Amino acid sequence: MRILISGASSLPGYLVSKLLVEKGYEVVGLYFNNPVSMDRDGFTGLKIDIRDYTGLKRVFDGFRPSAVLHFAAYGDVDGCERDNGYAWSVNVDGTSNLLNLASKYSKYFLYLSTDYVFKGDRGWFKEDDIPNPVNYYGLTKMVGEVLTKSSTVRWCILRASSIYGLGPGRKNFAKFLIESLGSGRKVRAITDQYTTPTYAGFLAEAVYKALDKEVEGVYHIVSSIRLSRYEFALRLAEYLGLPRELIEPGSMDDFNWFAPRPRDSSLDSRESQKVFGESLFSFEGALQRLKKEYREYINS
Ligand SMILES: NC(=O)c1ccc[n+]([C@@H]2O[C@H](COP(=O)([O-])OP(=O)(O)OC[C@H]3O[C@@H](n4cnc5c(N)ncnc54)[C@H](OP(=O)(O)O)[C@@H]3O)[C@@H](O)[C@H]2O)c1
Repeated sequence: MRILISGASSLPGYLVSKLLVEKGYEVVGLYFNNPVSMDRDGFTGLKIDIRDYTGLKRVFDGFRPSAVLHFAAYGDVDGCERDNGYAWSVNVDGTSNLLNLASKYSKYFLYLSTDYVFKGDRGWFKEDDIPNPVNYYGLTKMVGEVLTKSSTVRWCILRASSIYGLGPGRKNFAKFLIESLGSGRKVRAITDQYTTPTYAGFLAEAVYKALDKEVEGVYHIVSSIRLSRYEFALRLAEYLGLPRELIEPGSMDDFNWFAPRPRDSSLDSRESQKVFGESLFSFEGALQRLKKEYREYINS
C-alpha cells in the first residue's frame, strides 16, 4: 500500500513513517527544510513545499498514494501570530492543496490537529465540542479541520496536545527537560497552564491503527490525565532519575509570549479510547516508553 506523509521531518511524521515502513508499507515522506532519510527500503524522502500545488500534483501523479497522512504545518505559535499570511498559506492553503489532490487520487486522508483549536477556558474538551481558538495558529488548524470535514475523501482527524518524545523535529518540552536537567541547567515550568500531553510513540501507533482500519471521524490522542507543565516536569524527572530540584515553578504571566495561549486545553479522550484502546492513553505507559528511549539516547 502506498502512503504519502507530509511533515515527515516532524517528530510524529518521522515516527509514523518509520512504523509504516516496518509494517511493509511503501512511504513517500515530504519535508521542507530538514531532509529526512531512513536506512531501510520502502521510504523515499522528497523535498516539497505544500503550498506548491503543481509540484504536489507531480508527486501524486507519479506515486498515486492510496492514503495521505497530513502532518506538515507552520507550528510556531508566536510566528503564526506575527505573520498571519504565511501561517494561512502553509496551514490552510497547503492543507487545501493536499485535500484537493487526495480527493482525486486517494481513498483516505488523515489530518493531525491540535488542542489549540479550543479556547482553553475550562478544559476537558470533547471530540464534538465547537472549536473557538484564541490564537492565529489555532485558527488556521481549525480551518484545516473544516476543510478536511468538507472533503469528498474519507477522512479522520486526530487531535494531539504538547507532543513529546525523543527524535527529530522541533524541540519539545520533554526533550528540552532532558537536555537541560541532564546538563545541570535550571528550568522554569508553568504551574497554571494545563494540557493532556501526547506521547509521540503512542500517536504513531494510533495513526497506524486509524490507517489500517480506515477509522473515520474526530479523535483525541492524548494522555488520560491532565497536567501542568510543572507537574509534567516533576514526573518526568522522577521517572528518568533527573534532578528535580532544578525545576522551578513559574506562571504563564512570566512568559512574554506574543500570541495568547489557552489556559486549560485538556482533551477528553474517553470516546477515543473505545476506538484506539486504553493503553495508548496511559501517562504511566508513556513514561515507561520514554525511559527506554532515554536510555538509548544517553548510550548513543
Ligand atoms: N508540537 C505540538 O505539541 C503539536 C500538538 C498538536 C498538533 N501538532 C501538529 O503536529 C504536526 C507537526 O508539527 P510539530 O509541532 O511537530 O512541528 P515541526 O517539527 O515544526 O513540524 C512541522 C512539519 O511541517 C513541515 N513543513 C512546514 N512548512 C512546510 C511547507 N511549507 N511545506 C512542506 N512542509 C512544511 C516541516 O518540514 P521541515 O522540518 O522539513 O521544514 C515539518 O516536517 C503539525 O501538524 C502540528 O499542527 C503539534
